[in-house]
Amino acid sequence: MARRLATAIIAMLAVVVTGSARAQDYPARTATVIVPFAAGGPADITGRIVADIFSRYLGQKFVVENVVGAGGTTGALRAAKAPADGYTILSGHLGTNALAPAFYPNLGYDPQKDFDPIGLSAEYPELLVVRKDFPANNFKEFVAYAKANPDKLNVGHAGLGSVSYIGCLLLHAAIGIKPTMIPFTGTAPVLNAMLGGQVDYECDPVLGTLSQVQAGNVKALAVAARKRSPLLPDVPTSHEQGLPEFDIAPFYAVFVPSGTPQAVIDKLAGALSKGLNEEAVQKRLAELGADNIEPGRRGPKALADLVKSEAARLLPILRAAAEK
Ligand code: MLT
Repeated sequence: MARRLATAIIAMLAVVVTGSARAQDYPARTATVIVPFAAGGPADITGRIVADIFSRYLGQKFVVENVVGAGGTTGALRAAKAPADGYTILSGHLGTNALAPAFYPNLGYDPQKDFDPIGLSAEYPELLVVRKDFPANNFKEFVAYAKANPDKLNVGHAGLGSVSYIGCLLLHAAIGIKPTMIPFTGTAPVLNAMLGGQVDYECDPVLGTLSQVQAGNVKALAVAARKRSPLLPDVPTSHEQGLPEFDIAPFYAVFVPSGTPQAVIDKLAGALSKGLNEEAVQKRLAELGADNIEPGRRGPKALADLVKSEAARLLPILRAAAEK
């Protein structure tokens, strides 16, 4: 009996020692960064910036894999169920990692319990963008047209619970309409459909449509924020237009499956913070329309607090908006 107990204890110690030795060696091979939306959109662009930071600071390849579907929850679920060893990382966002429970009663993962936070990557305000020949040239005309013709409208979004879905849900609830919402695997394909005239409008983080807005191929009618975007100074805010309920600047952030060794979390969080401090990375994020994130809001603890506070603030609003 005593011998069996001793053998079991030695085996357990071996697992702990090997595990922590592995964590010290991390990363020893290529890691995957799951981006839960289509290539070319805000989540993908942000995920690739993050993967590049990890590759440069941690000396191994961090490869992006786009795992799309169900408003990003397919990829998030895959990440939640992956081994907690730092080799599968999620570049998630406000939808996948805080608000998805409002839309999926059987989500399959708990955003707060099944992930360990690494850190915030970026926050971008959303824009209301309409196709070039949409019969409204400003936000007031848009509201009047949408109220008069709700059945004619086709709204593109990146799936139930995605931030493009949530943004337009807030807008629709504020103006009292329920138009047809068409799901795509990300807002990059939504933009293509809007350029092709199959979709009338979308609510997308600013970087998603910026170049097409600047080229005049689609029209930006409002920034869903208190202050205007320096990149689009002529586009008024929803607050200026008397619709403060349409206000959303989703966070994009990095998570790992819960139970990941602390040494691995520390390495990832340290690398992310160093990368985000680089002038070139800050310049790139500013060019994409990201809001400035003060250093005090970086890191695992700040992200855990943000997830908790955004879920507490927005889940009741979204549940009410979805019922309207
Ligand atoms: C995307 O990258 O397609 C969007 O950020 C997804 C979303 O709208 O949530």
